[in-house]
Amino acid sequence: MSLSLATSRRRFLTWTGGAAATAAIYGFSTAPAWAEPRFPQNPFTLGIASGDPTPDGIVLWTRLAPEPQAADGRGGMPPYQLQVNWQIAADPEFRTVVKAGSEVATPELAHSVHAEVVGLNPSSDYWFRFRVGSEESQVGHTRTAPAAGSDPGKVTFGLASCQSWAGGRYAAYRTMAQEDLDLVVHVGDYTYEGRNHESLADFRNNHAKYKSSPDLQAAHARFPFVVTFDDHEVENNWAAGMSQPDNEASNEPQRFLQLRANAFQAYYEHLPLRRPQRPTGPDMVLYRGLDYGNLARFHVLDTRQYRSDQLTENFPGGPQHPDVYDPSRTLMVDAQEQWLFQGLASSPARWNVIAQQTMMAQYDYDPSEVLSVNHDQWDGYVVSRNRLTNFIHQQNPANPVILSGDWHAAFVNDVLLDFADPASKIVTTEFVGTSISSGCGWAQSIKNALPNNPHTRYINPDKRGWTRCTVTPEEFRSDYLTVAAAADTTSPAVLDASFAVSNGRPGAQRA
Ligand SMILES: [Fe+2]
Repeated sequence: MSLSLATSRRRFLTWTGGAAATAAIYGFSTAPAWAEPRFPQNPFTLGIASGDPTPDGIVLWTRLAPEPQAADGRGGMPPYQLQVNWQIAADPEFRTVVKAGSEVATPELAHSVHAEVVGLNPSSDYWFRFRVGSEESQVGHTRTAPAAGSDPGKVTFGLASCQSWAGGRYAAYRTMAQEDLDLVVHVGDYTYEGRNHESLADFRNNHAKYKSSPDLQAAHARFPFVVTFDDHEVENNWAAGMSQPDNEASNEPQRFLQLRANAFQAYYEHLPLRRPQRPTGPDMVLYRGLDYGNLARFHVLDTRQYRSDQLTENFPGGPQHPDVYDPSRTLMVDAQEQWLFQGLASSPARWNVIAQQTMMAQYDYDPSEVLSVNHDQWDGYVVSRNRLTNFIHQQNPANPVILSGDWHAAFVNDVLLDFADPASKIVTTEFVGTSISSGCGWAQSIKNALPNNPHTRYINPDKRGWTRCTVTPEEFRSDYLTVAAAADTTSPAVLDASFAVSNGRPGAQRA
């Protein structure tokens, strides 16, 4: 978006506080004042984003980082606070600025900005930008959620997960950014931990590396994101306070909790999350709900932070451990489970979308009578899965649909009340999105096992991509889009398969 100098000067006058408001605020009594902060380059190197839409608001995100890979993790910023101004307009040229304000960007949070804007109109398109000193960010687009009690005819969103930097970046986001979506739901593995990543600077610079992708930035600049983490934002297969057995920090619980705190803080600093999601040390409340009128309620889960430890690390599967039925084990922890059940029971929505991390349906990797499963997924927490499927069976909330990621492979699954009986009732439908870029070295195992799993309607472990979900009062449709080559950013997305669930009838049908 290029503005002529004269008109952009004039428009700056509408920024909150005008020029005086750009004066530095002292974070430390000894810090020099940046009356007019000057940066070695435009500090908005990591882009901008919006997230967690409500009918009247949105959270706007950016982070000031003129040198995003500075070794100390401070992004080339001085050790004091700065005021960052923002604007929201009803048009991309900012002729009609409807809201403006400012946030203090602090060194403690890596000069990230999380501006929670209220007073907007429901189901409305907005454009936003930031300014610090004389530097201006790119322009982002966002959209608010429909009004409470309204009956939207359609909600369209993208499902994304697993965007390993090494896997190629990011044809999937480039194609996604060309669509007209109401939001993007990201169910984890937004970043992958590096070897020996442990300090806050390590995790910050890893996020900054991912955010250097113009295609990831473009998707964030185009749609509001609703995010939840899985394991790799912290460490492969971590569980609550437990590290992987092969990790150096695993024998030192306090050291792992410090690592987790660093990872959570960097995650918060780099994503459009609201204040209730700001971590306190190693703790972060990430499960939360979002409503899209009477059409869809999103129940966003955190199945990592509170889970019992994995019973085995066998990969991709191994004989089912008898303790998967131990009622003391948990994937969500009681408080989150009760919150979910309450949210389902009280939901005004036609569709209840449960956005979470790992695959929920059983998947048996062994063609013999032995049940061989992956214990990091819900298969390792059968007691938790049974509590949820029994709740749905007995309480009958409207149209639950499960969204998952983690496995770098696309699946469509009918979730059965009892997986031991193929004729058992279908209680809900699961759409597992493939990875944005992460590879699937176990694709052949998945393909070999398909005949053992008649409740699985579709798989594609070979391609990377994203899933477009279209929700109407009549159906929930998922279009599986794959890119020919994840490493080639110009690779187009093609439709591989479409499945739909009809209102009132769980189970996926090819559309
Ligand atoms: Fe992953």
